[in-house]
Amino acid sequence: MKRTKISEVLKLPPNQQQLTVMGWVRTFRNNQFISLNDGSTIENLQIVVDFTTFPEELLKKIHTGTSLKISGKLVPSQGKNQTHEIIANTIEILGECDPEKYPLQPKKHSLEFLREIAHLRMRTTTFQSIFRIRNGLAFAIHQFFQNRGFVYIHSPIITASDAEGAGELFQVTTLDLNNIPKTADGLVDYTEDFFGKPANLTVSGQLEAELGAMAFSEVYTFGPTFRAENSNTPRHLAEFWMIEPEMAFYDLNDNMDLAEEMLKYLLKYVLDNFPKELEFLQQRQLDEEKQKPQNERSSMPLIEKLQFCIKEPFERLTYTKAIEILENSSYNKKKKFQFPVQWGMDLQTEHERYLVEKEFNKPVILTDYPKDIKAFYMRQNDDGKTVRAMDILFPGIGEIIGGSQREERLEILEQRMKELNISTEEMYWYLDTRRFGTVPHAGFGLGFERLVQFCTGMSNIRDVIPFPRTPKNCEF
Ligand code: 4AD
Ligand code: MG
Repeated sequence: MKRTKISEVLKLPPNQQQLTVMGWVRTFRNNQFISLNDGSTIENLQIVVDFTTFPEELLKKIHTGTSLKISGKLVPSQGKNQTHEIIANTIEILGECDPEKYPLQPKKHSLEFLREIAHLRMRTTTFQSIFRIRNGLAFAIHQFFQNRGFVYIHSPIITASDAEGAGELFQVTTLDLNNIPKTADGLVDYTEDFFGKPANLTVSGQLEAELGAMAFSEVYTFGPTFRAENSNTPRHLAEFWMIEPEMAFYDLNDNMDLAEEMLKYLLKYVLDNFPKELEFLQQRQLDEEKQKPQNERSSMPLIEKLQFCIKEPFERLTYTKAIEILENSSYNKKKKFQFPVQWGMDLQTEHERYLVEKEFNKPVILTDYPKDIKAFYMRQNDDGKTVRAMDILFPGIGEIIGGSQREERLEILEQRMKELNISTEEMYWYLDTRRFGTVPHAGFGLGFERLVQFCTGMSNIRDVIPFPRTPKNCEF
């Protein structure tokens, strides 16, 4: 079954050479032109069929979705939409596809409809473009860190800790939920459970990455994370992927520099390697935007937006300064924010987007948040009120990265954990890094799907992961 991939075919000079290609039919026009796609590129290959030389029985079985093996001669195409075509000598049907039942038709489908058939949507040009870019970004992330000597640490998926302390945990248990063993005082007897204590899916690999940084000095994780937050938004998934670098001997400024350099590297990688996919997605977005009211349209086409974010230095300012800007904004005065602005509040997406899209018109890094809205491990500032946190906010997305300098001083960390009712005994393994040769260190978490969203211009996060998991939705 020697086949030539369509991506390779399109690079050959067409001079009557005999080739075999295989793929799925996108369209079959006038009993004469097959548009074939094999997923090796988003481009289709035109196959010319002389219907007088093939049995009608065979041609009747060719529909959108049918899989074919075709041999023929590669020639230059006269058509205006392609450079190459194959004149078919033999056509073999690998798998039939009933046109009455096949849900993908050669027309535009809504993204919502395609989400219902996530097992087939990868056959569309839109999703092939998105998942090729996703694949490229995963590769580029490893390349970025490996080029700099960072060590990839596989943090565990099952843990007994809640790294973020937000309580959004998926529990992992082998107990029979219809017959739960109980202790004398009526509570669940976890000694009977698989690990002999409560366990959950990880919300972050950071704490384990910190142990790695205390040995290798520069490490990163890249794995799935799970959050049982009941938020049905276009930016939240219950299962998403996170990249978490962690670096010894870095302060918050070093951390911001690395994050900015990484994001720019990744955007450039996409621009350099996926021009056709970006063109396609940009056109898709422009068509979609025409349906929206003027004030909700994105101000820049996709490609220009990526170029712009590479060129501009990110704006860096403190949370406190950002609150001042929001308070004094005409938006606030006209009461356009749904959530009123005041120091101490967690910024809502509307506030983040105001700063990025209206005030600065570029990516923004906010630092030094109130300690009460951030996790226990962040380094406390001398003001007693704020911590060395940083969030990176992107146009159209809001928060894409969250990170901080870590609290490396044992007593201060223990004190904070006690205030938040986090057991210092159970977390002895984490605190040991502060007991034995502690050093200043910092790190951050990049939400992989939010990055893919930004690079593809997709407005819903469910459209940038092959199999989205959200509340009440775990199909396929
Ligand atoms: O800000 P978060 O919660 O930070 C952490 O988990 C830290 N442990 C990271 C670190 O310092 N090592 O999450 C980091 C990023 C967010 O900025 C966001 O991009 C993404 O993860 N994220 C989500 N993406 C999709 N769905 C969700 N439910 C997400 N929650 C967070
Ligand atoms: Mg965050």
